[in-house]
Amino acid sequence: MNSAQEAGKDAPAKSEDSASGVADVNGIAAVLRISQFRRLWIVLGLSSLGDWLGLLATSLFAADQVEGTTAKGAAFGGVNVMRLLPAMLLGPLAGVFADRFDRRLTMTICDLLRFGLFVSIPLAAVFLNEPAAAVTWALIATFLIEMVAMFWIPAKEAGLPNLVPRDKLESANQLTLVTTYGVSPVLAALLLAGISRALLSAVDEKVDDLWITPVDLALYVNALTFLAAAIVVFFFVKGLSGKGGDTEEKQRQPGLLASVVQGWQFVKGTTMVRGLVYGILGAFAAGGAVIGIAKPYAASLSGGDAAFSLLFGSLFVGLGAGIGLGPIVVRALSRRRWFGMSIVLAGFSVALLAPAPHLAVAVPLVFLVGAGAGMAYLSGSTLLGKEVQDTMRGRVFAFVQSLVRVVLMLAIALSSLLVGLGGSRTLPVGSLDIQVSTARGLLVVAGVLAIITGVLAFHRMDDKPGVPVIADLIASLRGRPLAVPGGPSMGVFIAVEGGEGAGKSTQIAALAPWLEERGYECVTTHEPGATPLGRKIRQLLLHEESVSPRAEALLYAADRSEHVSTVVRPALSRGAVVITDRYIDSSLAYQGAGRALPTPEIGWLSAWATAALKPDLVVLLDLDPEVGLARVAKRGTADRLESESRLFHERVRSGFLDLAEAEPKRYLVLDATAKPEDITRQIKQRLESLLPVRATSVPRTMVDTSS
Ligand code: TYD
Repeated sequence: MNSAQEAGKDAPAKSEDSASGVADVNGIAAVLRISQFRRLWIVLGLSSLGDWLGLLATSLFAADQVEGTTAKGAAFGGVNVMRLLPAMLLGPLAGVFADRFDRRLTMTICDLLRFGLFVSIPLAAVFLNEPAAAVTWALIATFLIEMVAMFWIPAKEAGLPNLVPRDKLESANQLTLVTTYGVSPVLAALLLAGISRALLSAVDEKVDDLWITPVDLALYVNALTFLAAAIVVFFFVKGLSGKGGDTEEKQRQPGLLASVVQGWQFVKGTTMVRGLVYGILGAFAAGGAVIGIAKPYAASLSGGDAAFSLLFGSLFVGLGAGIGLGPIVVRALSRRRWFGMSIVLAGFSVALLAPAPHLAVAVPLVFLVGAGAGMAYLSGSTLLGKEVQDTMRGRVFAFVQSLVRVVLMLAIALSSLLVGLGGSRTLPVGSLDIQVSTARGLLVVAGVLAIITGVLAFHRMDDKPGVPVIADLIASLRGRPLAVPGGPSMGVFIAVEGGEGAGKSTQIAALAPWLEERGYECVTTHEPGATPLGRKIRQLLLHEESVSPRAEALLYAADRSEHVSTVVRPALSRGAVVITDRYIDSSLAYQGAGRALPTPEIGWLSAWATAALKPDLVVLLDLDPEVGLARVAKRGTADRLESESRLFHERVRSGFLDLAEAEPKRYLVLDATAKPEDITRQIKQRLESLLPVRATSVPRTMVDTSS
């Protein structure tokens, strides 16, 4: 590894990949602008609302039909077991379905079937006139509905990545997950409560007099959500089955069983997917164990049901925070690394729950468990969507989905069984009472298990081998992840801006040797005219008699384009610190504010010309044009732009200041009337925090001072 590469191990958010990794509010707004995705999202909202409503209502329905607490419990529990069972049986087949058949049609038919099945539950009660038979049918219908869902989910999951560009997939997943697990259950519960209240108040609180029970009505409403979803998918969502997925690919596909086997082999043979599977296994096993242990654990914190609800609540809030805010927090962190790290975070938090003496300690830990799980879920499903090819995606999603359900069910069952077997006692250690119990022991086991699988997953999936984990994490949280040594490293890009005579070149001349002394390769350059083509353009720009405003804007953009592709980017990818005298902001201020061309258009033009290369820092030397122009006048004849009116230069100045105000983090605005040494000192101070931490010892021989 040579030191020039080391020098540039810092990859600012301007690299394509990391920029696309950062999902934020803008990302969500952007993905919602894609009409096909928006429609699918509505469908998803409807279906998951239906799902939750269905879960609540069918469980209550079954319990309503029979008398006595034990029977009620059995009926309630039976419905829920019915919902988990099909996963194991049908998962593999459902995946093949999603890969081979038209996904839109699959989803539509599934939704229609669910509509019919949900309607049939209350109807059966009316027509069968026999409570036991009604419950039996409710169980059968629930089982069938769940089987249908097993086909719907992989079709949706595999189709979604075809509707949104890869860089928006994370935002799309954020939205769908928050809708499915956050908004829908709450809405379903409210709806159910609302329906009951409305009906009851209508008949003076006498349940027997109702023409329809609240639960029945909920089932009908729920059925309608599926009907609506079917209509939307069928008529309005296009492109779920990837390009060509219908024709050639399908003909080349082997038989059903062979397809299932092919899917398994793909999972087994793909390191990234295998890593994901390890991680998911560990995370859900640990999660299931926590759920199984939750009740006795809450009791051991000397809290009853209230403590249990509190823990449960903070787990959910954590999940939501992980999914909703995770990408904003981790910013440009590699998504593959993020996945493993999230599981390790969850594992650590689970293990730490064991010695937690008090609810006040347990609640934040449980929150972290949720956040880790949520982030792992988001990054995991985004990775699957992004990195598994369309023809295989349905099977992989189905495989993962079955695995999740099975592992979760086993972990819950096993841990509640084990907890039941063991006892608990309190050990006084100093002034603390340490709780020792099977529940707490199991938490340690579950936590360690999750940590191990998280680490395993991390190593399988690592896309930055050799880059220190903690340093990369810290750098990523600050928006500047470390780059892979030997890989395309990224330097630091600084633009110095200001009006005429602001003293940009003086500052740049002072900064270059300072940077080189500290071991950075420093490239100083300028616009317009730093390239052979640029010099010709510069001649036209500054000395042609007249250039129309739009032609002027295009010429500056052409100069910039050549400059970025032949000078700036090559230097940055060597890891150099590049300082340019003027960049995009000059166009925004001079051609935008000065010539009164629409600034956003100038922005697009430059973004296109530079393939969206933005500086990491813009140093703006702010100066009253009167002072600046007087400085220039002393130097001799003025060029075309310098001879513009005072008013023009006033507009340019305020144009610069507006830009800085809109993005204060990326700008350093300095008063250009200050002493040059003071200005230099302030810029250096700011650069200290921006430059990659490293390389006090790069030999001078490595430094390219050719510029
Ligand atoms: P230059 O001689 O390089 O002087 P300065 O020391 O002011 O940078 O002149 C460049 C001129 O071009 C300057 O007046 C500003 C103008 N300009 C634009 O109008 N738009 C742009 O995009 C750029 C880069 C420069």
